[in-house]
Amino acid sequence: MNSHLMPTYNRQPVTFVRGEGARLWDEAGREYLDALSGIAVTGLGHAHSDISEAICEQAKTLIHTSNVYGIEWQAKLADRLAEVSGMESVFFCNSGAEANEAAIKLARLFAHNKKVEDPHIIVMETSFHGRTLATLAATGSPAIQKGFEPLVGGFLRVPYGDLAAIERLAGQHDNIVAVLVEPVQGEGGVRPAPKGFLRGIRALCDQHDWLMMVDEVQTGIGRTGRWFGFQHEDGLLPDVMSLAKGLGNGVPIGASVGAGKAAKLFGPGNHGTTFGGNPLVCRVGHTVLHVIERDGLLERATALSEQIRHGLMAGFESEPAIIEVRGLGLLIGVVLDRPCGELVRRALDHGLLINVTAGSVIRLLPPLILTNEQAEELVAKLVALVRGWLAENAEQVTD
Ligand SMILES: Cc1ncc(COP(=O)(O)O)c(C=O)c1O
Repeated sequence: MNSHLMPTYNRQPVTFVRGEGARLWDEAGREYLDALSGIAVTGLGHAHSDISEAICEQAKTLIHTSNVYGIEWQAKLADRLAEVSGMESVFFCNSGAEANEAAIKLARLFAHNKKVEDPHIIVMETSFHGRTLATLAATGSPAIQKGFEPLVGGFLRVPYGDLAAIERLAGQHDNIVAVLVEPVQGEGGVRPAPKGFLRGIRALCDQHDWLMMVDEVQTGIGRTGRWFGFQHEDGLLPDVMSLAKGLGNGVPIGASVGAGKAAKLFGPGNHGTTFGGNPLVCRVGHTVLHVIERDGLLERATALSEQIRHGLMAGFESEPAIIEVRGLGLLIGVVLDRPCGELVRRALDHGLLINVTAGSVIRLLPPLILTNEQAEELVAKLVALVRGWLAENAEQVTD
Protein backbone atom coordinates (compact mmCIF):
# COMPACT_ATOMS: atom_id res chain seq x y z
CA MET A 1 0.00 0.00 0.00
CA ASN A 2 1.12 3.59 -0.68
CA SER A 3 4.00 2.33 -2.81
CA HIS A 4 3.78 5.32 -5.15
CA LEU A 5 3.90 7.94 -2.39
CA MET A 6 7.18 9.64 -1.50
CA PRO A 7 7.96 8.43 2.02
CA THR A 8 8.04 11.87 3.64
CA TYR A 9 6.04 10.77 6.68
CA ASN A 10 6.39 8.09 9.32
CA ARG A 11 2.68 7.41 9.20
CA GLN A 12 0.68 5.84 12.00
CA PRO A 13 -0.92 2.52 11.00
CA VAL A 14 -4.46 3.84 10.67
CA THR A 15 -6.61 5.36 7.93
CA PHE A 16 -9.60 7.47 8.91
CA VAL A 17 -12.64 7.39 6.69
CA ARG A 18 -15.15 9.56 8.54
CA GLY A 19 -15.36 12.26 11.19
CA GLU A 20 -17.97 14.08 13.21
CA GLY A 21 -17.14 16.81 15.72
CA ALA A 22 -14.21 15.59 17.82
CA ARG A 23 -14.66 11.96 16.73
CA LEU A 24 -13.02 9.99 13.93
CA TRP A 25 -13.68 6.49 12.63
CA ASP A 26 -11.21 4.22 10.84
CA GLU A 27 -11.76 1.67 8.06
CA ALA A 28 -12.70 -1.00 10.58
CA GLY A 29 -15.31 1.25 12.21
CA ARG A 30 -13.21 1.91 15.34
CA GLU A 31 -13.90 5.21 17.07
CA TYR A 32 -11.25 7.73 18.16
CA LEU A 33 -11.24 10.98 20.14
CA ASP A 34 -9.38 13.62 18.14
CA ALA A 35 -7.21 15.75 20.45
CA LEU A 36 -4.99 16.89 17.57
CA SER A 37 -7.40 18.49 15.05
CA GLY A 38 -5.14 17.64 12.10
CA ILE A 39 -2.43 19.67 13.90
CA ALA A 40 -4.48 22.75 14.78
CA VAL A 41 -6.55 22.75 11.60
CA THR A 42 -10.07 21.47 12.31
CA GLY A 43 -10.89 23.84 15.15
CA LEU A 44 -14.60 23.44 14.44
CA GLY A 45 -14.26 19.66 14.36
CA HIS A 46 -15.03 17.31 11.51
CA ALA A 47 -18.00 17.58 9.15
CA HIS A 48 -19.27 20.77 10.81
CA SER A 49 -22.67 21.45 9.22
CA ASP A 50 -22.00 25.16 8.50
CA ILE A 51 -18.68 24.33 6.86
CA SER A 52 -20.08 21.45 4.81
CA GLU A 53 -22.93 23.69 3.66
CA ALA A 54 -20.58 26.53 2.72
CA ILE A 55 -18.43 24.13 0.70
CA CYS A 56 -21.41 22.56 -1.08
CA GLU A 57 -23.11 25.87 -1.84
CA GLN A 58 -19.95 27.47 -3.17
CA ALA A 59 -18.99 24.36 -5.17
CA LYS A 60 -22.36 24.59 -6.88
CA THR A 61 -21.85 28.30 -7.56
CA LEU A 62 -18.19 29.07 -8.35
CA ILE A 63 -14.92 27.50 -7.18
CA HIS A 64 -12.20 29.32 -9.07
CA THR A 65 -11.68 32.22 -11.42
CA SER A 66 -8.32 33.96 -10.99
CA ASN A 67 -6.73 36.69 -8.94
CA VAL A 68 -6.78 38.87 -12.06
CA TYR A 69 -10.53 39.33 -11.38
CA GLY A 70 -12.43 40.54 -8.38
CA ILE A 71 -13.33 37.84 -5.84
CA GLU A 72 -16.25 38.77 -3.60
CA TRP A 73 -15.59 36.23 -0.82
CA GLN A 74 -11.93 37.25 -0.69
CA ALA A 75 -12.88 40.87 -0.06
CA LYS A 76 -15.45 39.81 2.57
CA LEU A 77 -12.98 37.58 4.40
CA ALA A 78 -10.28 40.29 4.30
CA ASP A 79 -12.77 42.73 5.86
CA ARG A 80 -13.56 40.28 8.66
CA LEU A 81 -9.89 39.50 9.32
CA ALA A 82 -9.15 43.23 9.47
CA GLU A 83 -12.05 43.67 11.91
CA VAL A 84 -11.00 40.94 14.35
CA SER A 85 -7.26 41.67 14.16
CA GLY A 86 -7.24 45.48 13.99
CA MET A 87 -4.93 45.13 10.96
CA GLU A 88 -5.47 46.51 7.48
CA SER A 89 -4.74 44.39 4.41
CA VAL A 90 -4.57 40.71 3.47
CA PHE A 91 -2.80 38.59 0.84
CA PHE A 92 -4.37 35.14 0.51
CA CYS A 93 -2.33 32.03 -0.26
CA ASN A 94 -2.63 28.28 0.36
CA SER A 95 -0.58 27.32 3.43
CA GLY A 96 1.36 28.49 6.46
CA ALA A 97 4.72 28.28 4.73
CA GLU A 98 3.39 30.44 1.89
CA ALA A 99 2.03 32.98 4.37
CA ASN A 100 5.49 33.21 5.94
CA GLU A 101 7.13 33.42 2.50
CA ALA A 102 4.95 36.46 1.84
CA ALA A 103 5.97 37.91 5.22
CA ILE A 104 9.66 37.42 4.42
CA LYS A 105 9.19 39.05 1.02
CA LEU A 106 7.38 41.96 2.69
CA ALA A 107 10.36 42.44 5.03
CA ARG A 108 12.79 42.42 2.12
CA LEU A 109 10.72 44.89 0.11
CA PHE A 110 10.43 47.11 3.16
CA ALA A 111 14.24 46.97 3.45
CA HIS A 112 14.97 47.72 -0.18
CA ASN A 113 12.49 50.60 -0.19
CA LYS A 114 14.57 52.21 2.56
CA LYS A 115 17.86 51.31 0.83
CA VAL A 116 19.02 48.50 3.13
CA GLU A 117 20.94 46.36 0.65
CA ASP A 118 21.56 43.18 2.68
CA PRO A 119 18.50 42.91 4.92
CA HIS A 120 18.32 40.51 7.87
CA ILE A 121 15.37 39.21 9.84
CA ILE A 122 15.72 38.16 13.48
CA VAL A 123 14.26 34.68 14.07
CA MET A 124 14.16 32.39 17.11
CA GLU A 125 15.83 29.18 18.17
CA THR A 126 13.41 26.18 18.23
CA SER A 127 10.98 28.06 15.95
CA PHE A 128 9.00 26.49 13.12
CA HIS A 129 7.91 28.44 10.06
CA GLY A 130 7.52 25.86 7.29
CA ARG A 131 9.31 23.66 4.77
CA THR A 132 9.89 25.90 1.75
CA LEU A 133 13.47 27.07 1.21
CA ALA A 134 13.08 30.47 2.89
CA THR A 135 10.86 29.24 5.73
CA LEU A 136 13.07 26.26 6.57
CA ALA A 137 16.01 28.67 6.75
CA ALA A 138 13.95 30.81 9.17
CA THR A 139 13.05 27.70 11.17
CA GLY A 140 15.26 27.07 14.21
CA SER A 141 15.89 23.38 13.66
CA PRO A 142 19.11 21.98 12.17
CA ALA A 143 17.32 18.65 11.55
CA ILE A 144 14.81 20.34 9.23
CA GLN A 145 17.56 22.25 7.39
CA LYS A 146 19.96 19.34 6.97
CA GLY A 147 20.37 18.24 3.37
CA PHE A 148 18.88 21.39 1.88
CA GLU A 149 21.91 23.67 1.96
CA PRO A 150 22.80 26.23 0.78
CA LEU A 151 20.24 27.83 3.04
CA VAL A 152 18.51 31.06 2.10
CA GLY A 153 20.45 33.79 3.92
CA GLY A 154 19.33 36.90 5.73
CA PHE A 155 18.37 35.46 9.12
CA LEU A 156 19.88 36.13 12.56
CA ARG A 157 18.89 33.86 15.42
CA VAL A 158 18.30 34.44 19.13
CA PRO A 159 16.97 32.21 21.93
CA TYR A 160 13.15 32.37 22.24
CA GLY A 161 12.18 34.79 24.98
CA ASP A 162 15.57 36.53 25.13
CA LEU A 163 14.84 40.20 24.58
CA ALA A 164 18.38 41.21 25.63
CA ALA A 165 19.81 39.07 22.79
CA ILE A 166 17.68 41.01 20.29
CA GLU A 167 18.87 44.28 21.79
CA ARG A 168 22.46 43.11 21.47
CA LEU A 169 21.96 42.28 17.78
CA ALA A 170 20.47 45.73 17.26
CA GLY A 171 23.72 47.22 18.52
CA GLN A 172 25.86 44.99 16.28
CA HIS A 173 24.03 45.16 12.91
CA ASP A 174 22.62 48.07 10.94
CA ASN A 175 20.86 45.86 8.37
CA ILE A 176 18.14 44.31 10.57
CA VAL A 177 14.67 45.02 9.18
CA ALA A 178 12.25 42.70 10.97
CA VAL A 179 11.63 40.20 13.77
CA LEU A 180 9.62 37.02 13.09
CA VAL A 181 8.19 35.30 16.17
CA GLU A 182 5.50 32.79 17.21
CA PRO A 183 3.32 33.89 20.18
CA VAL A 184 3.56 30.29 21.38
CA GLN A 185 6.14 27.97 19.86
CA GLY A 186 4.06 24.96 18.86
CA GLU A 187 6.45 22.58 17.11
CA GLY A 188 9.23 23.86 19.41
CA GLY A 189 7.58 22.26 22.46
CA VAL A 190 4.47 24.32 23.28
CA ARG A 191 6.36 27.26 24.73
CA PRO A 192 4.31 30.39 25.36
CA ALA A 193 6.19 33.68 24.98
CA PRO A 194 7.35 34.89 28.39
CA LYS A 195 5.22 37.79 29.66
CA GLY A 196 6.35 41.04 28.05
CA PHE A 197 8.44 39.37 25.33
CA LEU A 198 6.13 40.35 22.46
CA ARG A 199 5.64 43.83 23.89
CA GLY A 200 9.43 44.19 24.18
CA ILE A 201 9.83 43.15 20.53
CA ARG A 202 7.18 45.70 19.54
CA ALA A 203 9.11 48.44 21.35
CA LEU A 204 12.41 47.46 19.69
CA CYS A 205 10.72 47.34 16.27
CA ASP A 206 9.35 50.84 16.81
CA GLN A 207 12.70 52.12 18.06
CA HIS A 208 14.68 50.73 15.11
CA ASP A 209 12.05 50.96 12.35
CA TRP A 210 11.78 47.17 11.95
CA LEU A 211 8.68 45.17 11.07
CA MET A 212 7.21 43.06 13.85
CA MET A 213 6.02 39.86 12.18
CA VAL A 214 4.06 37.23 14.11
CA ASP A 215 3.61 33.69 12.87
CA GLU A 216 0.07 32.83 13.99
CA VAL A 217 -0.25 29.80 11.72
CA GLN A 218 -0.73 27.51 14.72
CA THR A 219 -1.92 30.01 17.34
CA GLY A 220 -4.40 32.00 15.22
CA ILE A 221 -8.17 31.73 14.68
CA GLY A 222 -9.19 31.19 18.29
CA ARG A 223 -6.77 28.41 19.19
CA THR A 224 -5.42 30.27 22.24
CA GLY A 225 -8.77 31.66 23.42
CA ARG A 226 -8.33 34.99 21.60
CA TRP A 227 -8.64 35.46 17.85
CA PHE A 228 -4.85 35.70 17.70
CA GLY A 229 -2.06 34.88 20.14
CA PHE A 230 -0.65 38.43 20.08
CA GLN A 231 -3.95 39.68 21.54
CA HIS A 232 -2.97 38.24 24.93
CA GLU A 233 -0.83 41.40 25.27
CA ASP A 234 -3.29 44.29 25.58
CA GLY A 235 -3.07 46.91 22.87
CA LEU A 236 -0.30 45.19 20.94
CA LEU A 237 -0.45 45.22 17.14
CA PRO A 238 2.12 43.57 14.84
CA ASP A 239 2.97 44.87 11.37
CA VAL A 240 2.64 41.47 9.70
CA MET A 241 0.79 38.32 10.71
CA SER A 242 0.82 34.87 9.06
CA LEU A 243 -2.28 32.67 9.17
CA ALA A 244 -3.31 29.26 7.80
CA LYS A 245 -4.41 26.01 9.51
CA GLY A 246 -7.58 26.86 11.50
CA LEU A 247 -8.67 29.53 9.03
CA GLY A 248 -9.89 26.89 6.58
CA ASN A 249 -10.93 24.12 9.00
CA GLY A 250 -9.41 21.72 6.44
CA VAL A 251 -9.60 23.52 3.11
CA PRO A 252 -6.16 24.87 2.15
CA ILE A 253 -5.94 28.60 2.85
CA GLY A 254 -3.20 30.84 4.19
CA ALA A 255 -3.06 34.59 4.69
CA SER A 256 -0.44 37.23 5.19
CA VAL A 257 -1.99 40.19 7.00
CA GLY A 258 -0.40 43.65 7.07
CA ALA A 259 -0.80 46.78 9.16
CA GLY A 260 0.75 50.25 9.20
CA LYS A 261 3.95 50.43 7.19
CA ALA A 262 3.48 46.85 5.93
CA ALA A 263 -0.12 47.27 4.78
CA LYS A 264 0.60 48.77 1.37
CA LEU A 265 4.08 47.42 0.59
CA PHE A 266 3.10 44.92 -2.11
CA GLY A 267 2.05 46.43 -5.40
CA PRO A 268 1.00 44.79 -8.68
CA GLY A 269 3.64 42.29 -9.80
CA ASN A 270 5.36 41.92 -6.40
CA HIS A 271 3.67 38.69 -5.39
CA GLY A 272 0.99 36.31 -6.57
CA THR A 273 -0.60 32.88 -6.61
CA THR A 274 -2.90 30.94 -8.90
CA PHE A 275 -5.04 29.14 -6.32
CA GLY A 276 -4.67 31.48 -3.33
CA GLY A 277 -7.89 32.97 -2.01
CA ASN A 278 -10.36 31.38 -4.41
CA PRO A 279 -14.09 31.81 -3.76
CA LEU A 280 -14.43 28.36 -2.17
CA VAL A 281 -11.70 28.64 0.47
CA CYS A 282 -12.53 32.25 1.29
CA ARG A 283 -16.19 31.46 1.82
CA VAL A 284 -15.13 28.66 4.16
CA GLY A 285 -12.75 31.01 6.02
CA HIS A 286 -15.55 33.55 6.36
CA THR A 287 -17.85 30.83 7.72
CA VAL A 288 -15.18 29.71 10.23
CA LEU A 289 -14.96 33.24 11.67
CA HIS A 290 -18.76 33.52 11.71
CA VAL A 291 -19.21 30.23 13.62
CA ILE A 292 -16.48 31.08 16.15
CA GLU A 293 -18.18 34.38 16.91
CA ARG A 294 -21.79 33.10 16.80
CA ASP A 295 -21.06 30.15 19.07
CA GLY A 296 -18.79 31.98 21.52
CA LEU A 297 -15.90 29.62 20.80
CA LEU A 298 -13.16 31.96 22.03
CA GLU A 299 -14.67 31.86 25.52
CA ARG A 300 -15.26 28.13 25.09
CA ALA A 301 -11.58 27.56 24.21
CA THR A 302 -10.55 29.36 27.40
CA ALA A 303 -12.99 27.41 29.57
CA LEU A 304 -12.02 24.08 28.02
CA SER A 305 -8.36 24.94 28.46
CA GLU A 306 -8.90 25.48 32.18
CA GLN A 307 -10.87 22.27 32.52
CA ILE A 308 -8.26 20.20 30.68
CA ARG A 309 -5.26 21.77 32.35
CA HIS A 310 -6.71 21.45 35.86
CA GLY A 311 -7.67 17.86 35.09
CA LEU A 312 -4.18 17.04 33.88
CA MET A 313 -2.48 18.76 36.80
CA ALA A 314 -4.67 16.90 39.27
CA GLY A 315 -4.20 13.61 37.41
CA PHE A 316 -0.43 13.96 37.31
CA GLU A 317 -0.06 15.27 40.86
CA SER A 318 2.97 13.80 42.64
CA GLU A 319 4.15 12.19 39.41
CA PRO A 320 7.81 13.28 39.28
CA ALA A 321 8.21 12.45 35.57
CA ILE A 322 5.75 15.22 34.64
CA ILE A 323 7.68 18.47 34.72
CA GLU A 324 4.96 20.88 33.69
CA VAL A 325 1.56 21.33 32.03
CA ARG A 326 1.78 24.51 29.97
CA GLY A 327 0.33 26.32 26.98
CA LEU A 328 -2.28 28.88 26.03
CA GLY A 329 -5.94 28.10 25.34
CA LEU A 330 -6.30 24.83 23.48
CA LEU A 331 -2.61 24.56 22.64
CA ILE A 332 -1.53 22.49 25.60
CA GLY A 333 1.79 20.79 26.35
CA VAL A 334 2.54 18.14 28.96
CA VAL A 335 6.28 18.22 29.51
CA LEU A 336 7.91 14.94 30.52
CA ASP A 337 11.39 14.36 31.86
CA ARG A 338 12.12 11.79 29.12
CA PRO A 339 11.55 11.13 25.42
CA CYS A 340 7.97 9.95 24.98
CA GLY A 341 7.36 9.66 21.24
CA GLU A 342 6.02 6.13 21.60
CA LEU A 343 2.99 7.51 23.47
CA VAL A 344 1.51 8.63 20.14
CA ARG A 345 1.07 5.03 18.98
CA ARG A 346 -0.04 3.88 22.39
CA ALA A 347 -2.70 6.58 22.57
CA LEU A 348 -3.88 5.60 19.10
CA ASP A 349 -4.25 2.01 20.26
CA HIS A 350 -6.47 3.39 23.06
CA GLY A 351 -8.59 5.43 20.63
CA LEU A 352 -6.98 8.81 21.29
CA LEU A 353 -5.16 11.10 18.85
CA ILE A 354 -2.31 13.11 20.36
CA ASN A 355 1.08 14.33 19.23
CA VAL A 356 4.55 14.50 20.77
CA THR A 357 6.79 17.42 19.89
CA ALA A 358 10.34 18.40 20.84
CA GLY A 359 10.89 14.76 21.85
CA SER A 360 9.37 14.91 25.31
CA VAL A 361 6.31 17.17 25.14
CA ILE A 362 2.83 15.72 24.62
CA ARG A 363 0.98 18.28 22.51
CA LEU A 364 -2.80 18.53 22.68
CA LEU A 365 -4.73 20.57 20.12
CA PRO A 366 -8.35 19.54 20.61
CA PRO A 367 -11.10 21.25 18.60
CA LEU A 368 -12.84 24.32 20.04
CA ILE A 369 -16.17 22.48 19.82
CA LEU A 370 -15.12 19.76 22.29
CA THR A 371 -17.84 19.00 24.87
CA ASN A 372 -17.11 18.99 28.60
CA GLU A 373 -17.62 15.22 28.62
CA GLN A 374 -15.11 14.79 25.81
CA ALA A 375 -12.64 17.00 27.68
CA GLU A 376 -13.07 14.75 30.72
CA GLU A 377 -12.60 11.67 28.58
CA LEU A 378 -9.42 13.16 27.07
CA VAL A 379 -7.95 13.88 30.50
CA ALA A 380 -8.90 10.47 31.94
CA LYS A 381 -7.52 8.56 28.96
CA LEU A 382 -4.29 10.52 28.80
CA VAL A 383 -3.56 10.35 32.51
CA ALA A 384 -4.18 6.58 32.60
CA LEU A 385 -2.08 6.05 29.51
CA VAL A 386 0.91 8.12 30.64
CA ARG A 387 0.84 6.76 34.19
CA GLY A 388 0.68 3.20 32.85
CA TRP A 389 3.56 3.82 30.48
CA LEU A 390 5.68 5.45 33.21
CA ALA A 391 5.00 2.53 35.56
CA GLU A 392 6.10 0.05 32.88
CA ASN A 393 9.24 2.09 32.21
CA ALA A 394 10.03 2.18 35.93
CA GLU A 395 9.67 -1.63 36.08
CA GLN A 396 12.07 -1.96 33.17
CA VAL A 397 14.60 0.28 34.89
CA THR A 398 14.47 -1.72 38.16
CA ASP A 399 14.48 -5.13 36.41
C1 LIG B 1 3.94 28.22 13.46
C2 LIG B 1 3.88 27.55 12.12
N1 LIG B 1 4.27 28.22 11.03
C3 LIG B 1 4.22 27.67 9.81
C4 LIG B 1 3.80 26.38 9.61
C5 LIG B 1 3.78 25.79 8.24
O1 LIG B 1 2.49 25.67 7.77
P1 LIG B 1 2.14 24.73 6.53
O2 LIG B 1 2.43 23.34 6.92
O3 LIG B 1 0.69 25.00 6.25
O4 LIG B 1 3.02 25.18 5.40
C6 LIG B 1 3.38 25.64 10.74
C7 LIG B 1 2.95 24.24 10.57
O5 LIG B 1 2.95 23.44 11.48
C8 LIG B 1 3.44 26.23 12.01
O6 LIG B 1 3.05 25.56 13.12
